[in-house]
Amino acid sequence: MSYQTEWRARFGEETGLPSDVPEVPWVRQVLMRRTHRRYAERPVPDGLLRLLLAAAFSASSKSDFQQASVIQVEDPSLRQRLAGLVPDMPWIGTAPVFLVFCGDAHRLERIGELRGHSVDNGKLEGFFNATVDAALALQTFILAAETVGLGCCPISVIRNHADAVAAILRLPEKVFPVAGLCLGYPAAGGHISMRLPLAVTLHTNCYDEARLGEAVDAYDRRRDARYSIPREQQRSPEVFGHTEFYGWSEDKARQAIEPEGLRFSAYLRAHGFGME
Ligand SMILES: Cc1cc2nc3c(=O)[nH]c(=O)nc-3n(C[C@H](O)[C@H](O)[C@H](O)COP(=O)(O)O)c2cc1C
Repeated sequence: MSYQTEWRARFGEETGLPSDVPEVPWVRQVLMRRTHRRYAERPVPDGLLRLLLAAAFSASSKSDFQQASVIQVEDPSLRQRLAGLVPDMPWIGTAPVFLVFCGDAHRLERIGELRGHSVDNGKLEGFFNATVDAALALQTFILAAETVGLGCCPISVIRNHADAVAAILRLPEKVFPVAGLCLGYPAAGGHISMRLPLAVTLHTNCYDEARLGEAVDAYDRRRDARYSIPREQQRSPEVFGHTEFYGWSEDKARQAIEPEGLRFSAYLRAHGFGME
């Protein structure tokens, strides 16, 4: 049946699709997509990179405000300073290409100045619109890159060092990193990260989480059958102890308890975003 292999790989269950859905090779590719963190020595040609960036900036943009900017980090010393901020993710320093996708609420204010109008784009709306634009450009870039056989890894952990990143990249007020992006030809096949079923993520007409618990339990079991998180990788056992069955939901709940992003919030408030 159509897409059976890809659907099973992505969700660990049968498709439930009718047999007359159109055959689209690119959709098969998207269903099979995965993040890559190890790259071959092979360089990414400049022209190809520019083409992919053009695709990225073709993404939809809220109100046509065009509030995404990308910093292409070419200078090896700047790259090493960025990589040094996150030593446990060596792919930031080793990927053939490193880009930083930024939300850019600054440019609209500059455009206002050029036209003689005073624009205040430092509210929550400005931050949110710029973030969404940058995220859409990022994902459009990733899908275009994967289509030509490249591999990518977004890097949002740089937001935990927003002050240092802004200093290294000389970001003006109201320009902030949404995520870095490692890019290169994959050195290995990688693996597909199984997703929650549509029964959880798709709601028909009204939001409905009546069967969330059982759906998540079943998802945990499907994921575990493909790849079991080793006992030594259970998070914070000194706080939560070890559990006999340690699935995705236990792992993500433990991860989400850890505070993250507090410095990013402080950075935004100190750099022009009142967030009202
Ligand atoms: C916005 C965003 C930020 C991410 N940040 C990081 C990161 O800092 N480091 C990393 O190794 N992977 C990062 N990732 C990759 C995710 O871990 C990965 O997408 C997720 O585990 C699902 O795997 P898949 O993309 O292979 O399906 C990020 C992904 C997204 C979308």
